[in-house]
Amino acid sequence: MKKKVFVTHMLPGERIHQLSAFCDVNVWLGPGLISASALREELVGCHGVVCLLTDHIDRSLIDTLPQLEFISSMSVGVDHIDVAALNERGIPLGHTPGVLVETTADTTFALLLAAARRISEADRFVRQGEWRRENRWSPDFFTGKDVSGATLGIIGVGAIGQAVARRASAFGMKVLGWNRSPKTVAGIDMVALEQLLECSDFVSLHIPLTDDTRGLLDAHHIALMKPGAVLVNTARGGIVDESALAAALASGALFAAGIDVFDEEPVPENNPLLALPNVVLAPHIGSATTLTRERMADITADNAIAALRGEVMPHCANPGVYAT
Ligand code: GLV
Ligand code: GLV
Repeated sequence: MKKKVFVTHMLPGERIHQLSAFCDVNVWLGPGLISASALREELVGCHGVVCLLTDHIDRSLIDTLPQLEFISSMSVGVDHIDVAALNERGIPLGHTPGVLVETTADTTFALLLAAARRISEADRFVRQGEWRRENRWSPDFFTGKDVSGATLGIIGVGAIGQAVARRASAFGMKVLGWNRSPKTVAGIDMVALEQLLECSDFVSLHIPLTDDTRGLLDAHHIALMKPGAVLVNTARGGIVDESALAAALASGALFAAGIDVFDEEPVPENNPLLALPNVVLAPHIGSATTLTRERMADITADNAIAALRGEVMPHCANPGVYAT
């Protein structure tokens, strides 16, 4: 009997279509994203799941799936999935590192520059006719912060953090880094987290969201940041205490922020960051270029196909399951 695989959203590119040679494929065709209740129903009896970062697959859902043999997520982050529950059952989880590194670093720099130079605010000013109405221009008009020559603190110096550091060096920035596990990276001056926060004009997050990193940038750590600093987050919203960040931005303790990820997504209307003019907002688009999304989809398909053939996934987030 053919195995059953559920795909929670049609993926871009060609490779995903090869899946049907190895299993019975059922694809959610919308409209929109699949709801938690529909996901629970569709997964009954499934051997494999191909999903997005918007699909929350927790222990209680995994427990209803005795036949489950693999999950392949089109994302590098896997915080939407209970990895510990998969590990206990030896179920491999595929993810898509590598291919999105440069694209996500570009997004990080786009947000960093936009926040420093108030680009979103300026866009709204022009678009809404304020410039014309006020016939205003002055030496301090939309003045921001210099990026070149400033100090950038990178929290998490993995592949994406290092790609951001390379861009920063080209901008003549001094680069500080902090990593949970000790690491040496050429061009990055590794320091304690407190020192990084105290000395950086810009701070950018590049760590995964785990039990250890949830709320890492809390009120205490935000208070340590240099007066007038800028925070950029293209990692995960849950790493930051959003209320503490909003308070620091509202009081002027911090100059601005560039935020692509939120604790709750889609971001609810009452998120305090939405009301602040000095926050550049994006809807979790760190890896969103056509080419990168196709590459991510190809890896997602490759991981699923490997699992269906009984082979080791080329990009497994919990490779320990193969050791047992
Ligand atoms: C994006 O946030 C990803 O995890 O791929
Ligand atoms: C951020 O979303 C990442 O890809 O790590």
